[in-house]
Amino acid sequence: MAKILITSGPTRQYLDPVRFISNASSGEMGRWIARAAVKAGHDVTIVSGPVSIHYPPEARVIPVITTSEMLDACLREFDSSDGMIGVAAPCDYQPTTVSDHKIKKTGQPITLQLIQTPDIVATLGQQKRPDQWVVGFALETEDAHFRAVTKLEKKCCDLVVVNGPEAMSSSTNTVDIVDRAGEIVANFGGPKSVVGGAIFLEIQKRLIETRIAVSREE
Ligand code: C5P
Repeated sequence: MAKILITSGPTRQYLDPVRFISNASSGEMGRWIARAAVKAGHDVTIVSGPVSIHYPPEARVIPVITTSEMLDACLREFDSSDGMIGVAAPCDYQPTTVSDHKIKKTGQPITLQLIQTPDIVATLGQQKRPDQWVVGFALETEDAHFRAVTKLEKKCCDLVVVNGPEAMSSSTNTVDIVDRAGEIVANFGGPKSVVGGAIFLEIQKRLIETRIAVSREE
């Protein structure tokens, strides 16, 4: 049994008490990967942004709103986890200031100043121990393979799951799984329920079982 941390869903960055920046991530892929992990007998914690789907009842769910909150929750959980799967689509930018009252309409253009948010997968990837693993996702619109390999190295991932923008808010998905050598080691397509299960089985085979075998030899 492995202890697995999964990030899932979008995050929100508020501009004022009622308006926010976000994206169309549904949490559906995180849900199916979590379900496959739970079914395989693993202990699963999901750190999720706001979603309307239901995660498997066997998983522990930590709800968060912003990317920083998602990072803080992951940092609390990661040390005691065997590995993490970054399925979430966290906002990459946040407003430099958040108004404490609803921003009034003036008839004039307004300018939003945004700063980058922390990268959760990169932060955990850079601090993982040799016995821990990290899987990232890469949603690419062009040069998918090259960008995915660059991302894998930069974020210190063990595997990257590459998909296209059609993955957002859709019930189906097509993915390539890329390993540390830059090779496509698997390719799946179909309903997210099936693709999520197949992705998890690759993680099980390539990262979880190999570590269990090494620890048995030691
Ligand atoms: O760099 P990009 O956003 O394309 O990378 C996608 C991967 O990085 C996904 O695994 C996503 O969950 C993760 N990510 C993150 N924190 C961010 C942005 C992306 O963990 N702020």
